[in-house]
Amino acid sequence: MTTRFAVIIVAAGSGSRMNAETPKQFLPFLGERTILGQTVHVFDTHPHVGVISVVLPDHHDHNLPAHIVTCSGGASRKDSVLSGLKSLSEHNPEFVLIHDAARCGIDHSLITRVMDAVDRKHIVVPTLPIADTVRRKSSKGWEDVSRDGLDAMQTPQAVHYQTYKDILEQDTTDTTDDASSMLNAGYQLKAVLGSRHNFKITYPEDLDMMRKLQDASFSVVGQGFDVHQLREGTGMMLGGVHIACELELVGHSDADVLLHAITDAVCGASGLGDIGQHFPPSDAQWKNKASDVFLRKVIELASQKLCSLVHIDATIIGEKPKISPMRDAIQKRVADICQLPISCVNIKATTTEKLGFTGREEGLAAMAVVTMRRM
Ligand code: CTP
Ligand code: MG
Repeated sequence: MTTRFAVIIVAAGSGSRMNAETPKQFLPFLGERTILGQTVHVFDTHPHVGVISVVLPDHHDHNLPAHIVTCSGGASRKDSVLSGLKSLSEHNPEFVLIHDAARCGIDHSLITRVMDAVDRKHIVVPTLPIADTVRRKSSKGWEDVSRDGLDAMQTPQAVHYQTYKDILEQDTTDTTDDASSMLNAGYQLKAVLGSRHNFKITYPEDLDMMRKLQDASFSVVGQGFDVHQLREGTGMMLGGVHIACELELVGHSDADVLLHAITDAVCGASGLGDIGQHFPPSDAQWKNKASDVFLRKVIELASQKLCSLVHIDATIIGEKPKISPMRDAIQKRVADICQLPISCVNIKATTTEKLGFTGREEGLAAMAVVTMRRM
């Protein structure tokens, strides 16, 4: 487990605006899973998340997985964050992502966006333009506030662990997010695009809306198939991994037959046609291109259609090269490219008993089936 990125999930609030019998983060969300449970699950299945610490109200029961660190929160959100930072002392991560338990609409691509933007000098914040007209009420009545340059701030906010711990220990101001303490200390904010689904459950209607979003999502399946010609050579790319052998695959790009099959399956599940439409072999810019670029691109296009990849099962069909020694490396690389947990990627291989073009070692084929969640 890497300690480059730790996560603190603050869940020690009382949820007064929700007005429920229990703090909102402990309300049921998906079957047995609570709002907090869903938030923890999303981070826990992200491939680059190391340790997770959940900040809980004093003496509160929970059924979080055993590997999750827990600690007690304080009277304000800021006190709770500080408690979370202290709970990670022995892990000493490089960066920490701090997230509100109440934002259970968080997804892997937003987490990755935030991680990709981190550095020691900034706090990374997902932001969104405000859509409604904004006015301030005062003793004189309503006063217009220009929406120009006005953005809403979300979490997870990511910051250098030690820098932020030092700052927060000194900070005496009252704040509702982490960027505020960093800005007061003279650091800058780096904005990345937030997500409308990542709203904070604050009022009863919000929970209603989040449950409806979840209910409205459904699974779709896509399949892909690809073949490339084999000839004598010095190796090939398979699943984004270079395999040294006495063969090579012939193609316009790097001819990674496995990634092409998976890319086509993603296109299939998300209604994006096929790989050739997006990356035509007639276009010189794709010549010798590493095929993970194609796969990443269609996953991004799919996510713009609110379609997210959850599982891949693929089969490589051919006599040579022997896949079993490379299987783990290929699975890991595919999981990495797709930002999926390794448990959600399965790569198999089979021969065709020396029959047909694969049996004669004239070509290598691959088939893939992907499962996606669609809103
Ligand atoms: N939080 C916390 N410790 C506090 C206050 C808030 O850990 N002392 C957490 C909440 O559990 C929540 C997040 O900070 O996940 C954002 O706060 P907010 O949405 O305001 O939650 P509450 O403070 O619980 O709700 P309310 O303000 O309506 O009472
Ligand atoms: Mg609050």
